[in-house]
Amino acid sequence: MKALILAGGFATRLRPLSCTRPKQLFPIVNKPLLDWVIENLERNGVKEIVVAVNYMADALRNYYEKKQTKATIIFSLENRPLGTAGPIKNAEPNLKGKEPFFVINGDILSNMNLRKMKNAHDRIPGPATIALRRVDDASRFGVVDLDEEKYIRRFVEKPKGENRNRLINAGAYILSQEIFDLIPEENRKISIEREIFPILAKEGKLRGYITEGLWMDIGTHPDYLQANFALLKMPGKKNSIGRNVKISPNAKIVEPVAIGDEVVVNEGAKIGPLTVVGDNSEIDEGCSIERSVLFPRCLIESSTSIKEAIIGEGTVIGRRVKIGEQSVIGDHCEILDDVILNKNVKVCPSKEVGENVLESCHIM
Ligand code: GDD
Ligand code: MG
Repeated sequence: MKALILAGGFATRLRPLSCTRPKQLFPIVNKPLLDWVIENLERNGVKEIVVAVNYMADALRNYYEKKQTKATIIFSLENRPLGTAGPIKNAEPNLKGKEPFFVINGDILSNMNLRKMKNAHDRIPGPATIALRRVDDASRFGVVDLDEEKYIRRFVEKPKGENRNRLINAGAYILSQEIFDLIPEENRKISIEREIFPILAKEGKLRGYITEGLWMDIGTHPDYLQANFALLKMPGKKNSIGRNVKISPNAKIVEPVAIGDEVVVNEGAKIGPLTVVGDNSEIDEGCSIERSVLFPRCLIESSTSIKEAIIGEGTVIGRRVKIGEQSVIGDHCEILDDVILNKNVKVCPSKEVGENVLESCHIM
C-alpha cells in the first residue's frame, strides 16, 4: 500500500526554530519527526511513500537522499502552498491505481495501528475513512460527530464554543481513488478539512475509526517538548546514550534522558530528568539542565542552568547563564556569560545576547 505524507507547512508556531528547518526535521529524541512517521507507516506495511513538500523542500530531500529506508520514498513538490487537499491532487500521478492509500499529517507523532483502520475501511467501501481520537480540548482540531454505524455526520474544522471531551480528526486517512474526482484541479490552497470532509460527512460518505495509543500533534513549542518527554517516558525505556559519549564520573544523570552521539558531559554537571542532548554537544562543569531539549552541536559552558527550554543547533551558551521556562533559542546563537533569560524569551537564529531579558519577548 502507498502513503502520502503532508510535509509542506510553514510551522509558524515553531519559530524561531522553524526559520531554519522544516517541522518534519525537528529532532524528537534525537531523530527527525519524519523518521518516526515513516517508521510507523513501514510497520503498517506501507511500501511506497510520497512526501508532499513545499517549505524548505530541499532540506528534506537532502536528508532522505542520504538515508536508507525500508519503503521507497519519493517527493512531490508544489510550486506554491496547496493546503491539505491540493497536495493529494498534485501527487495523483504517484498515487493513481486501483488501491486506496494513506494520507498522514506529517506532524503527528503516533504509533497508531493503520492496518486495523485499513481493515475497517475495506469492510465498507467508500471514499474516505479517517482516524479519530478523543481529546479534552478540541479547539485546535477538526471535530466530528460520529454515529453508531461509524459514519461521521458532521465535520467542523477548529470550531468555536464548547469543545470539551470530543472526538477529533487525528490526521490520518485512508482515501479511495475516487477522492481525485472530489478535489478541484486548481493551483491554490485547498483544505481537505474545510472543503472536502464536511461535504462527504453531509452526504453520509465519511467514515471514522477511533484509534488508541501514542498520539501527539506537534504544533507549538510546548507540544514539541511534550512529544520528547512522552518518548522518554515510554514504559520499559531506559536512558539512551549514544556512541562515543564521555560522561564524567562526577556528573549526575537523572532518568529519563537521551544523550546523542559524541556528547561530552563534564564534572559536576547535572542532566535530567526529561532532557535530550543532541549529537556532538558539550556540557561543561557544574551545569544543570532539566526538562529541556538541546539540538545538535550545542556548547553549554560552566555553571549554566537551563530549565524547560529548547536550544537550537550550534548555539553557544556562556558561563553562569540562566535560561528559564518556555524560552527558545534559535540556531547558532550566542548567549554571553552571566546573562539571565528569565521566562518565555524567544531568540532568533544567529543572535548574540549580552544583556539580561527579564520579560517575555522575542529578540530579533
Ligand atoms: N505539502 C503541504 N503543502 N503540506 C502542508 C501544507 C501545504 O501547503 N499546509 C500544511 N501542510 C501539512 C503540515 O506540514 C502538516 O503536516 C499537515 O499538513 C497539517 O497541517 P497543520 O497546519 O499542522 O494543521 P493543524 O494541526 O492545524 O490541523 C490538522 O491536524 C489536526 C490533527 O493534528 C487538521 O487536519 C485537523 O483537522 C486535525 O485535527
Ligand atoms: Mg498540526
